[in-house]
Parts: sequence; C-alpha cells; structure tokens
Amino acid sequence: MNANVDLTGVVLETDRLIIREWSEMDLEDFFEYAKVDGVGQMAGWNPHTSIQESKTILEMFINEKMTFALELKENHKVIGSLGLETLSLLLRDEYENLVGRELGYVLSKEYWGKGLMPEAVNRVIKFCFEQENYYYLMCSHFVINSQSKRVIEKSGFRFVKENTQIARDGHEYISLYYVLDNPLKKN
Ligand SMILES: CC(C)(COP(=O)(O)OP(=O)(O)OC[C@H]1O[C@@H](n2cnc3c(N)ncnc32)[C@H](O)[C@@H]1OP(=O)(O)O)[C@@H](O)C(=O)NCCC(=O)NCCS
Repeated sequence: MNANVDLTGVVLETDRLIIREWSEMDLEDFFEYAKVDGVGQMAGWNPHTSIQESKTILEMFINEKMTFALELKENHKVIGSLGLETLSLLLRDEYENLVGRELGYVLSKEYWGKGLMPEAVNRVIKFCFEQENYYYLMCSHFVINSQSKRVIEKSGFRFVKENTQIARDGHEYISLYYVLDNPLKKN
C-alpha cells in the first residue's frame, strides 16, 4: 500500500548533492536537461519541446510534494529528480498491508556515469527507512534500460517480477520490478 508522502521542508544532503523540494526558480535548469534527447524516453516520457511544458510538470512536482530536486553543490544547478512515486505494481502476500513507495529518477545526461544517482538513491532510502518508517521500497526499469538496472543493483534491491507497464507517453513497456526491504522492520 502507498505510504503518505509530503516532502514539505525536507532537505537531505550527500557529499555532492542537496536533495530538496522543487521551486519555481528551478524551471530553466529543469528544461535544460528535460529537453535533451535520450533522457526522458528511458523513463517513459518524451523530451520537453517548450519551457511551458517543463513549467507544467514543475508545477505538478511542487503541488504533489512527492518528488525531490537534486541540486549539485558544486554549481547549485538542479541536475535531476528523484520521486517517491505511486506503486506501479502492488505486491501481494506479506506486502499487502505494509506501506512503501516506488522510486523514480532522472539525471541530466551531462552528469551520467559519475555515481550521482546511486548517491542520491542511497540517501533517500535512508530517509524512507529511518525517518519515514516505510516497510519497503520498489523500483522498476524498462527491460532495455541497463543504466537504471545498474543503479538499482548497486542500491541493493532484489528482482521480484517482470510485468508490462503503461508509461506516461501512453506506450506499453516490459518492465522489471525490484524491492528493497527495510532492515529495521525485520524481527
Ligand atoms: C539511470 C540514471 C539515473 C543513472 O544515473 P547515474 O548517476 O549516471 O548512474 P551511475 O553513474 O551509477 O551509472 C549507471 C550505469 O550507467 C552506465 N553509464 C555510465 N555512464 C554512461 C553514459 N555516459 N552513457 C550511457 N551509459 C552510461 C554504466 O553502465 C553505469 O554502470 P556501472 O557503474 O556499472 O559502470 C541515468 O542514466 C539517467 O537519468 N537515465 C535516463 C533516465 C532513466 O533511465 N531513468 C530511470 C528510469 S527507470
């Protein structure tokens, strides 16, 4: 079952990142990476074609309060997003009455391959498990997305299932689903 999420006022830190709420001031940084070909498609959305399109999504992030902005300390630019999203697959049996969320993330192409997303994911896992008391987190990637698969593996998730998923672009994709249990909730 989906945990309640409200990221108002939450600020997390890692060596290289400040993980915080989105602000209207982030619009240009957001459009800069969201318009690049080959980024959003791997998460199921098309590159943004106008700043207005980015503004609409940014307003959704701000209103829904369940997506973090990833700000690089080095230059204070927002270079990605990490959301505590609605579960796209409901696990049965022992998970049925336990609260969790699904991580969803995107990083500016300019910053790929530096371990920044695993760094952000690890900090957000700690927040969800130690502060928010989730029982588990899920993550999924399209079968072709080996980059995201590596982030998930490096973050300690275990594979649970293959399934089809309808993405924001309206297409159906084969996705692989993973789960990470909160070790603090084990007997
Ligand atoms: C998935 C994503 C967030 C990974 O972030 P990251 O900070 O680059 O992650 P890492 O640095 O750990 O790199 C992960 C893997 O990407 C691959 N990779 C690294 N640099 C790359 C590059 N420039 N181009 C393509 N692949 C690259 C490597 O296989 C790496 O695995 P390794 O550490 O075993 O070598 C990022 O690639 C991205 O935003 N992709 C587009 C959106 C997306 O796929 N979102 C997830 C949807 S499920």
